[in-house]
Amino acid sequence: MKYKIEVLEEKIKNALKELGYETEIVIINPSNRPELGDYQFNGIMPLAKIYHKNPVEIANELVSKIKDFPEIKEASVAGPGFINLTFTDELLLEFMNDSEKDITSNYNLGINKTIVLDYGGPNVAKVLHVGHLRSANIGEALKRLCNAVGCTTISDVHQGDWGRPMGMVILEIKNRYPDLAYFKEDYNGEYVDFEITNEDLIELYPIATTKAKEDPEIMEKARTITYELQNKHKGYYALWQSIVKTSLDEVKKIYKDLNTTFDYWYGESDNFEYMDKTLEFLYSKNVITDSEGAKVIDVKEETDKLEIPPLIVIKSNGAVSYEATDLACLYERMQDFKPDEVWYMTDKRQELHFTQTFRASYKSGLVPTSTKLVFNGFGTMNGPDGKPFKTRDGGVMPLKDLLDMVTIECEKRLMETITENRDKIARVIAVAAIKYADLLPYRATDYNFDIEKFTDLNGKTGTYLLYSTIRMKSLLQKAKENNIEFNEMKNISNNAIKKIIIAMLDLKRVIKRSFENCSLNEITEYLYKITNLYNNFYADNKVLTEENLENRESFLALTKIIYDNNCYLLNILGINIPEKM
Ligand code: ARG
Repeated sequence: MKYKIEVLEEKIKNALKELGYETEIVIINPSNRPELGDYQFNGIMPLAKIYHKNPVEIANELVSKIKDFPEIKEASVAGPGFINLTFTDELLLEFMNDSEKDITSNYNLGINKTIVLDYGGPNVAKVLHVGHLRSANIGEALKRLCNAVGCTTISDVHQGDWGRPMGMVILEIKNRYPDLAYFKEDYNGEYVDFEITNEDLIELYPIATTKAKEDPEIMEKARTITYELQNKHKGYYALWQSIVKTSLDEVKKIYKDLNTTFDYWYGESDNFEYMDKTLEFLYSKNVITDSEGAKVIDVKEETDKLEIPPLIVIKSNGAVSYEATDLACLYERMQDFKPDEVWYMTDKRQELHFTQTFRASYKSGLVPTSTKLVFNGFGTMNGPDGKPFKTRDGGVMPLKDLLDMVTIECEKRLMETITENRDKIARVIAVAAIKYADLLPYRATDYNFDIEKFTDLNGKTGTYLLYSTIRMKSLLQKAKENNIEFNEMKNISNNAIKKIIIAMLDLKRVIKRSFENCSLNEITEYLYKITNLYNNFYADNKVLTEENLENRESFLALTKIIYDNNCYLLNILGINIPEKM
């Protein structure tokens, strides 16, 4: 189905051509001043410059042609060459009824790229914290957005499971349980009756890392263990496998609550399988040089304003770097998926790491320039005071605690009549509140956590959106119970409806810009806007008891369209809708 706005733009472009004005592209936008028109065309000025003419003259010529378009009720010139357009009701109704017939038509942009999305990024043995929340929320929503616009996606959690923290944790376990079979010289892969719980890991990890950081001797031991682990030392490797499993089981529970899924649960350890081949490749391309005992790739470019240091492939102590892991990872992804694009969703403070990795990939030819590597860095979620988010005793806030805290707050606000599954429903609402607040600012912007604000039923919040959407659903249900049949929108009987439709017309552009900016902020804003417009309409009209039958049918059809559309958009954001609340 052709998008009505694009059809109009094409017609305006042709009209200009007939008048002798050639232009590459015509874009019309929702009007800043709705009292003057629904949409506006601001493209006359540049033409006036090119053709050395008075803009008002061109505008008048164009308006006299546009006036005859069947879609246009009114066209007028405003100011120095702006054109206001008012659409006919037929056009608006057709658009609404068509979009209900094919709900995807407002989303599918026909972009059929294959995109690998790297998000989540949990670290084994380490508790998930609020930074991982953003990666999961943004990554999951971007994946859903990619699918909606027509892309094929491959999602990979990319666990941190192979670095030095693993050596530190194993060392700490070794100190506590020196007689464990894993640490015996002759250990040969047999079953060991030893269970390490996630609570153990959470307790162990900070102790292990602090000890190593404070004592160079311990650090050296941890380094050796890491090295041996990476070379598949039997005992360490078996212990590591059980640690990974415990850690991952816990992480998966949280991702389930967050509606976050992955096609692949790969980790850095999987990338290591490709390390030799990757290094061989890089050496064969002569991009690696020696620098103070380390192996590096020079990645600076002439146009750099800030100095970009060389990418260290192998450190002077012989260990491979985080950058090298990502190069090996790209080697694997290119081989397995041949993607058009690879997107990374991490804290924006990792930007340098990705700049170096991307440059080295292109420079060496590891990744062809036809594949776009994209770093989608995000800002920090700070505590209510604007400082890094901490628990009361000053530690990092585990993600699970944050979710529990918001769940309790949401449960308080649930209707008393809901007696069954209160905690489960509250969890769904809490996730909606958190996700919506998280996706509301532009991706790279920092924001402050504010539990009151995020769960406010009357604010720009996930809870408000859920509440309103559920109310639309129950209205439709009531119509059904009362055998009120409706089919499609028949008329636009008041201005509140008109405003909703004009906002709906813009949806496709919102989706397009969100995809291009790899940010969900315009979608979250849009959802609020359209829901608010609907609620304004709802406040002023008695939908079920409206006497004019044509109006009533239109009211109900409109409700259904907005309801379906809200469900679709919330789903893109990764937000589930509870039955009631
Ligand atoms: N595990 C990393 C962290 O917690 C994020 C991983 C991001 N992805 C990547 N391919 N490097 O910071």
